[in-house]
Amino acid sequence: MPLTTPKEMFARAYAEGFAIGGFNVNNMEIVQGIMEAGALEKSPLILQVSAGARKYAGQTYIIKLVEAALATTDLPVVLHLDHGQNFEICKEVIDGGFSSVMIDGSHLPYEENIALTKRVVEYAHDRGVWVEAELGRLAGVEDDVQAAESIYTDPDQAAEFVGRTGCDSLAIAIGTSHGAYKFSGEARLDFDRLEKIGRLLPGFPIVLHGASSVPQEFVDMANAYGAQISGAKGVPEALLRKAARMAVCKINIDTDLRLAMTATIRKYFAEHPDHFDPRQYLSAARDAVREMVRHKIRNVLGSSNTI
Ligand code: G3H
Ligand code: 13P
Ligand code: ZN
Repeated sequence: MPLTTPKEMFARAYAEGFAIGGFNVNNMEIVQGIMEAGALEKSPLILQVSAGARKYAGQTYIIKLVEAALATTDLPVVLHLDHGQNFEICKEVIDGGFSSVMIDGSHLPYEENIALTKRVVEYAHDRGVWVEAELGRLAGVEDDVQAAESIYTDPDQAAEFVGRTGCDSLAIAIGTSHGAYKFSGEARLDFDRLEKIGRLLPGFPIVLHGASSVPQEFVDMANAYGAQISGAKGVPEALLRKAARMAVCKINIDTDLRLAMTATIRKYFAEHPDHFDPRQYLSAARDAVREMVRHKIRNVLGSSNTI
């Protein structure tokens, strides 16, 4: 099955009130765990690659891993650049064969974000590639960009931004943030804002970044086996499911995959102090990724049985 763009998956997700997972990939076990989950759940998938992942694995390795996944599946799969920081990175991955890119100009002044996004849209659309843009700023770390405070997306500006740039989907800030420490108090998302954005941009796919739920059982498991992760808190699953029933068509998840892998490996090491073959603990980690992604598809995204 060749790579696909998100066009058809988002059209159906929008119409039927579910979302597609944007899962971050960094190595073979993560790719395989996600692909196994997609096959078991009969769900489309978006595999996304950050600048850090490209640096860690190398673009050629990532592309070849995804090619291997495609050669052994019938699932629709998108290969997406996560948080492209400039035109050059977007161009490189488009030339390398990605079917979707994110140009993240959210750290720039509004007019500069528009100009940069338009430039990427022109290059990408000439080559049949999808473009996700971002307006508003999430608190926390976005690749190399650190934003102390979140700036929620202005709905009127979002509508204007989409019209002026021609981007295909838009990441917005309504209260989520990257990483494992999302809320110090009560977790809440600004659904009124999301509703207004949806009304001003009918049929247009919205993206939610920073959407891990940081399941307590995995925080507890990691801590029980020597981790020091305290006070971690994510977005409650019910809030994400509600967003997926609205205009949100893509929900990004990275932290929860990291947590599942790390907690599982810590437990494995504690329970098997005599094992030192990486295939043993990486098999357990791959299974943990698969189960985490299955759980997301069923309980958060609602994308089971949609192919
Ligand atoms: O949005 C950030 C993603 O979780 C990717 O993180 O830059 O550490 O690969 P990374
Ligand atoms: P989390 O850190 O909540 O998993 O978000 C990941 C993300 O938004 C990747 O772009
Ligand atoms: Zn993100």
